[in-house]
Amino acid sequence: MRLILIGYGVVAQSLTKILTVRKQEILERHGMHPRVVAIVDKGGLALNTKGLDLERVESIKKKYGTVASIPEYGRPGKPAQDIIGSLDAEVVIEATPTNLETGEPGTSHIEEALKAGKHVITVNKGPLALALPALTEMATYNGVHLRFSGTVGGGTPILDFGRNCLSFDRLLSIEGILNGSTNYMLTEMEKHGSTFEEALNEAQIKGYAEADPSLDVDGLDAAAKLTIMANWFTDKDVTLKDISVEGIRDIKPEDLKEASKRGFAIKLIGRIDKKMKVGPTELKTSDPLCIGGTLNAVKFHSEFAGDEIIIGKGAGGPETASSILRDLLNIREKM
Ligand code: HSE
Repeated sequence: MRLILIGYGVVAQSLTKILTVRKQEILERHGMHPRVVAIVDKGGLALNTKGLDLERVESIKKKYGTVASIPEYGRPGKPAQDIIGSLDAEVVIEATPTNLETGEPGTSHIEEALKAGKHVITVNKGPLALALPALTEMATYNGVHLRFSGTVGGGTPILDFGRNCLSFDRLLSIEGILNGSTNYMLTEMEKHGSTFEEALNEAQIKGYAEADPSLDVDGLDAAAKLTIMANWFTDKDVTLKDISVEGIRDIKPEDLKEASKRGFAIKLIGRIDKKMKVGPTELKTSDPLCIGGTLNAVKFHSEFAGDEIIIGKGAGGPETASSILRDLLNIREKM
């Protein structure tokens, strides 16, 4: 299977690392031999139709800041558009930073790949939050698969769980903690008395926050995930503008301490029932949804199965990279 990797940040670098160290296991257990034929970053691209030497690409990226500096295979300044349609490959992996205003450049990359008959895996929430119904239709029309399990919950299979396990049941509501950075920040502010700025700084250093961290703290990242879930689990055709959103900028350490004395914690909760909403919400500390750190937790409330909660790490390079591999395997099974 030939892969084109667009965007080479924390998640994509974790993916190439896993592909390198687990090469043998992926072949033996799944009969899969993924070859990355091109990687694109801001400086240009690296291309080898026989498959790039990923260890070498990683070290070049660390040393020079761009994969395009690799001798022989590097093409400095060349954009993704030069290869998405024309280079032979089965799957395009879109991992550029999320832009929730325009969806770009991710949306154009995904559209171009689907139109060229390539399967797409994306961990970029922007294109999906703004145009998931249209992109799904485009994938179906072109007879290819669009997968995005890493866009909600990082490596935790929240989308797979909701879609597959509850397919015969009727979902009445969904609520949960959908953003790892703000959960981490609120936990640090409550437990260790960190200021908002200190907690945000830590979330950035640890690589949980978005390239533009206002997406996390203003609730837009959680709203994007809520949009994806609403489209994926229900028959709603929704986009980001259908969600009412409030972030955590006004929450102070004193508010968290005061709530804690009463046996509550303040969490950024996304909820889908008749309405769709993201905002700071008090949860009883005994509520199973009330988890700390970077964890995400989603409660599915369905007609027959009742309440089910899925909890897991919602952010991080290796975690999200594991979801890309899950999607890859899923596509491979369907091919
Ligand atoms: N910034 C996101 C978060 C990354 O903190 O949850 C994972 O989507």
